[in-house]
Amino acid sequence: GSLAKVAVLGAAGGIGQPLALLLKTFPQVGELSLYDIVGTEGVGADLSHINTSAKVRSYVGADKLPAALYGSDLVLIPAGVPRKPGMTRDDLFNINAGIVKALCEAIAKNCPKAWVAIISNPVNSTVPIAAEVFKRAGTYDPRRLLGVTKLDVLRANAFVAEAAGLRPERVAVPVVGGHAGVTILPLFSQATPRVNLPADKAEALTARIQDAGTEVVKAKAGKGSATLSMAYAAAEFAGSCLRALAGEPGVVECAYVESHLTELPFFASPVRLGRNGIEEFLPLGRLNELESRGMEALKAELVASIQKGIDFVRKG
Ligand code: APR
Repeated sequence: GSLAKVAVLGAAGGIGQPLALLLKTFPQVGELSLYDIVGTEGVGADLSHINTSAKVRSYVGADKLPAALYGSDLVLIPAGVPRKPGMTRDDLFNINAGIVKALCEAIAKNCPKAWVAIISNPVNSTVPIAAEVFKRAGTYDPRRLLGVTKLDVLRANAFVAEAAGLRPERVAVPVVGGHAGVTILPLFSQATPRVNLPADKAEALTARIQDAGTEVVKAKAGKGSATLSMAYAAAEFAGSCLRALAGEPGVVECAYVESHLTELPFFASPVRLGRNGIEEFLPLGRLNELESRGMEALKAELVASIQKGIDFVRKG
């Protein structure tokens, strides 16, 4: 069929609700499947009154998870607990790791061919967790498991546009590596249009992008982390997945995936998406000195986060 079934797991949450709202407006979505352990009936009833074609279905509680997933083409996972002040992304690890593991076990059983886009943090670990779960189930296809890092790209675009006096919509900065702190590596040297940032400015912008999540956590003063910008980023990313699934050529995104661009087994990489998921890894290009240093600086943390995810499943 040409219309897609899209499932959102954690649909009643701070990210899940605005994400579901945006997806309800997508012409490619035939069915919008909303799953959470609480609260999806209300979200579903509310969204169902919007006069767009996507049919909204609500599923509450673990016994409804198989039905929520069955037949899905794309599953988006923002389920978890958000970061609170004083909490690092790592503090979230044990709760969110368990949630992602359980949800991926259900995906392997009920929609093994679906594309899976993971938002639940720490993404640097939750994507390797999902890979390990799918490997055990015999359903792993690295072309279709994607960690959503698009918010890092949106932030890089927005901040560079501001610094360079460009329209934010026109700026495209690749962001590679991972999705936390120093593992986030914006590549200003590969930006379009070309921007000429003095080294100190580039360094300050890199630091701001790496710590941008904390700006939001502080501003929300104890009530959560980025939700609206994250939902927008995830919806944009989902739109790219759906266009690729429908056969549109030339769809390119940065995503945290199993990658061969570096020696790191998972690495946020620029990829071209096609009907079956990742079709091509795009080269990183020639890094400048700041970027090369950043690349060296991220390796130890990223390797440790990947191993932590794999160990969670193996020793779990
Ligand atoms: N299955 C499905 N949904 C779950 C589960 C589960 N096992 N456990 C929790 N949830 C739901 C919660 O009920 C809630 O509705 O996930 C939702 C999370 O929403 P919030 O608490 O508002 O958190 P949010 O700000 O949306 O962040 C969620 O995304 O960016 C990451 O770091 C963030 O990991 C966090 C996640």
